[in-house]
Amino acid sequence: MPVNINLDHITESIELDECYEGLLDSKFNPYDQDSFQTVAPLLKKLNNNRTFLADVLINELEEHCASQTLTNRYTPQVIMLKGAQKDVSFFMRANIWLPKNDPLLRASGEKSFFYRVPHDHNFNFLTTGYIGSGYHSDYYEYEYDKVIGYPGEQANLRFVEHKQLGEGQVMLYRAYKDVHNQLPADDLSVTLNIMPTMMFAHLRPQYIFNEQCSQVERTTVTTNGSIEPVLYLIAQSGSERGREFVEHIAQRSVIEEDRFRAIKALTSVKVTDSDRVDVLEKFGLASSSKMVREMTKGHQAALGYA
Ligand SMILES: [Fe+2]
Repeated sequence: MPVNINLDHITESIELDECYEGLLDSKFNPYDQDSFQTVAPLLKKLNNNRTFLADVLINELEEHCASQTLTNRYTPQVIMLKGAQKDVSFFMRANIWLPKNDPLLRASGEKSFFYRVPHDHNFNFLTTGYIGSGYHSDYYEYEYDKVIGYPGEQANLRFVEHKQLGEGQVMLYRAYKDVHNQLPADDLSVTLNIMPTMMFAHLRPQYIFNEQCSQVERTTVTTNGSIEPVLYLIAQSGSERGREFVEHIAQRSVIEEDRFRAIKALTSVKVTDSDRVDVLEKFGLASSSKMVREMTKGHQAALGYA
């Protein structure tokens, strides 16, 4: 369960720029949960400001969303408040949580808004309910170090409680510990977040769990998601250098999922079944990584070789 930080006694209100300056001055460490909690009062004070978000939105609309275009790589659910900057360890955003009857939610599907997609986070972050009764969450905890991370692996999540992130509440989500299955809000809701900029988070993935919260469904990473088509293109080129490169990734990449992506790319250029099986055995089943071996078994089955 994320850490609840009761700051109901704070009634002061500050502007977004004051909050940001205060966060910079504090030199808090978002990778340290105790340090991160020390800046929760600044977020609460911003949360007490009932008009700042409307001002941000008006400014964006007047400038044809120039700032969002530059800084926001998220889906339309997210409004960037203070984008990532060089030498700054955090950024700030607002998240919109559509209610279950919203036509956009119905048209796009709940999963587009991360409802019913149980997941952990590979970073700590502070959040507060700004508008509305807030999204619902079933909260779980688990032991990250006991999970290898291949699809179908039992995850042994422990249910903790069901909660709504209502207005004025402040919580610290703990990296690699808290899992939540978010469910649609009852009314239009907005949260404010302080997020760490994550230089190395992709080295330790976050997990999406199945809807029953019993198994790992897949891993998800923030920064290297586009490597798969690149590996395919290099493998498809047919050059000796390309083959050596993809084989190197398949055997040596520090990111185990990338090793598996490279194995799939190497397999894809083989014409005969026996050549494909050879690649899967040489690079996948013989891998020292259990995650790579298990993912290869899944791929073998998908190709009909199991
Ligand atoms: Fe989340």
